[in-house]
Amino acid sequence: MEAAERLAAGNGIVKEGDVMNDVNIAFFDAKPYDIKSFNEINIDYNFNIKYFENKLNPDTAIQAKGYNIVCAFVNDTISKNVIDTLKMNDIKLIALRCAGYNNIDLQYAYKRIHTVRVPAYSPYAIAEHTMALILTLNRKIHKAYYRTRDNNFNINGLVGFDLHNKTVGVIGTGKIGKIFINILKGFGVNILAYDLYPDNDFAKKVGFKYVDLDTMYKESDIISLHCPLTSETYHLINKKSINKMKNHVMIINTGRGQLINTQDLIDALKKSKVGYAGLDVYEEESEYFFEDYSNQILDDDVLARLLTFPNVIITSHQGFFTHEALKTIAQTTLENIKKYIFSNELNNEVCYKCGNSECKKKTEGKCF
Ligand code: NAI
Repeated sequence: MEAAERLAAGNGIVKEGDVMNDVNIAFFDAKPYDIKSFNEINIDYNFNIKYFENKLNPDTAIQAKGYNIVCAFVNDTISKNVIDTLKMNDIKLIALRCAGYNNIDLQYAYKRIHTVRVPAYSPYAIAEHTMALILTLNRKIHKAYYRTRDNNFNINGLVGFDLHNKTVGVIGTGKIGKIFINILKGFGVNILAYDLYPDNDFAKKVGFKYVDLDTMYKESDIISLHCPLTSETYHLINKKSINKMKNHVMIINTGRGQLINTQDLIDALKKSKVGYAGLDVYEEESEYFFEDYSNQILDDDVLARLLTFPNVIITSHQGFFTHEALKTIAQTTLENIKKYIFSNELNNEVCYKCGNSECKKKTEGKCF
């Protein structure tokens, strides 16, 4: 019996020596860089990967018919009806090639289809990109770049501020937040942090304080978001929280777009309440980010308005985008798939309530 037959037989187990290229993976939202990194790593696995350029959504889920495994990314929509279509077509496993899991209806997926993810690919990549956004916004590198290319060596309007002795608030001190804090230490800033589960040992060792959100809003010159998107953190940054912040605060979001109420951010930018915004993610990014719209009219008025501000930098969810991260994503995803098909082991399975791969309750279904 070959790999796919065993998989179809229900227990998901194949044996060493089975023909791996008989395991068919439907890979959605494939970009040239994904294809390159997965093909390089797949030399060691020899799976049969079919790359679909389009995203996974209710209209495209049927493309997974005939495959065993689906591989999806951040802007694929894995809703109830997508899960139903995948299950109907005998998909055994959704292998997310990302850390975030807010794009999947996890509760509905529970007991219908297994989901694994890549919990960390390079937290350094995102933390370093966060710092790049802060430095670019502050020292106006995005404007200086165009001026000097146009032989304009005037520096009027490019004045920034010393980061030294400023206060930076970090919301979420997990893998990325901690590395970002370590980077910040080199700049001599005061660091305030907030997390549902503070790591007091780390705070003591590195030298920063955990505070409540109101204190952070009141005292921070820069606020950076590194918590996951959950029902609690949805629109965490809104009119009310912005009003508690310092005038001209800098807000950086490399977490998830919906952590910020974008309309409230725009209103605050118009009044200069918010002085700078660095956004690697955007609430409605799924239609635009990763795609080339340079020859089309942008019909998202909120995104179009954001792009008019000279003190706003938007990058297209590229925080993760380093060679190291791409390699780790491909390696972990294919290893997750291999573990499942060889030993029925759900390596990095998400907890269907909290999303965390390390949640101890997930296998008992007690998280609901
Ligand atoms: P992590 O799971 O290691 O850390 C998240 C931290 O947030 C944990 O310490 C957790 O306790 C805390 N947290 C959870 N709920 C919270 C709440 N309500 N308020 C405050 N803190 C809360 O995750 P990691 O790897 O540090 O990633 C953080 C986020 O970064 C991810 O959830 C994802 O949305 C985003 N991300 C963005 C990428 C990009 O390319 N821009 C790439 C990878 C992740």
